[in-house]
Amino acid sequence: MELRYRALEGMNDVLPEESARWQYVEACWRDHCHRYGYGEIRTPIMERAALFERSVGETSDIVSKEMYVLERGEERYALKPEGTAPVVRAYIEHGMYASGSVQKLYYITPFFRGERPQKGRYRQAHQFGAEIFGAAHPLADAELLAMVMAFFAQLGIPDGALELRLNTIGCPDCRPAYRDAVRQFAQANFARLCKNCQSRLERNPLRILDCKECVEITASAPPIDPYLCDGCRTHFETLQGLLKTLGVGYVRDHRLVRGLDYYTRTTFEVIAEQGLGSQNALCGGGRYDGLVEQLGGPPIPALGVGIGVERTLLVLQALKVPLPKPPCLHAFVVAFGDSARPIALQLAQQLRTAGIACDLDLEGRSPKAQMRLANRSGARYAILLGETELATATATVKDLASHEQTAVPQAELATWIHSRLP
Ligand code: HAM
Repeated sequence: MELRYRALEGMNDVLPEESARWQYVEACWRDHCHRYGYGEIRTPIMERAALFERSVGETSDIVSKEMYVLERGEERYALKPEGTAPVVRAYIEHGMYASGSVQKLYYITPFFRGERPQKGRYRQAHQFGAEIFGAAHPLADAELLAMVMAFFAQLGIPDGALELRLNTIGCPDCRPAYRDAVRQFAQANFARLCKNCQSRLERNPLRILDCKECVEITASAPPIDPYLCDGCRTHFETLQGLLKTLGVGYVRDHRLVRGLDYYTRTTFEVIAEQGLGSQNALCGGGRYDGLVEQLGGPPIPALGVGIGVERTLLVLQALKVPLPKPPCLHAFVVAFGDSARPIALQLAQQLRTAGIACDLDLEGRSPKAQMRLANRSGARYAILLGETELATATATVKDLASHEQTAVPQAELATWIHSRLP
């Protein structure tokens, strides 16, 4: 059969077997965020395009090349290309700063980037995100990083499979001098830079530092350390001390500048050694102390992280980390003869109301075909309903593994099954 419609390139369907794995990692993320005092935030899938242009940055690849923009009348909307800007917008819009205390918000969101699809890189992908508002102290950076690494550990990813890379990119006070130093370095090496870096040299010279094509050249680029102001230096040193106290291992990466314009001070990524090929960043984040104010709110410091859900699942698969099996049916109701079918449907309904996962044939199949369905369904019990059972208001419960059969009054069936479930 020729397919009339296919999913768009880079946008994937998640089928039931796979979605059980998604549900598992999602539940872990929710549980984990709850333990650290976060509340969930859900924001719309679309925002005004200007929100992302103002925050992620007009010259960033995400906004200038990858954003899906829709125009309706005078308005320009964008499918969210990341999760942070909408959360900041909501934080300001709902006056969440008014409480004066630290706010921790987590989310699970789809996002859209028109990139060339490849393994681990999609046009609709999903992120686990966490954002902290109102905490300027490096304690917040340390807690966030510890939480991220503990999440991966909780999923069963061994420590050695991941590398936390950490950097600081200073603040608007000290970064301009560093940017000039990198520009000068790049100008001195202009001919060796890739075309993309040559063209962004004037607009966004720091991005040259994380260009994969120019790694050999940028290995000798100047580090930011001598340019940091006292505040940024102290913040970074304190953070490193706290990470040591917490036993969170990291590697300093002088070139980690990130592709979104809103960052200040701390930037970080977690790289997976296996399972992701060239798209090896499992998560990324950092501080964005100026963004709330830039988007029209009060001057509130903030920081956060985005973790790729698909990439997390790819790493778990590559490392063969066993995930719990999806729950299967407890029971499958089998009707012997047409007169038993309505009672079978009614009994299934009662069992479901009592919290038992059960199913039955919906096509009027023969008892033999129904038994085949019961065996294939993975259910532990087949509930057999024939003339005798109808006459005595019982059901014959067949254990599909041991083949043992027991007559149970229909009214006691739910309790009987419940008492035998693990
Ligand atoms: P990001 O580094 O652009 O940061 O994305 C975070 C993570 O999303 C990446 O590390 C990667 O795992 C995943 N990801 C990114 N693009 C794709 C794609 N095309 N296909 C599959 N997965 C992808 C942010 O988005 C920031 N909002 C993170 C943040 C939160 N910073 C502060 N708070």
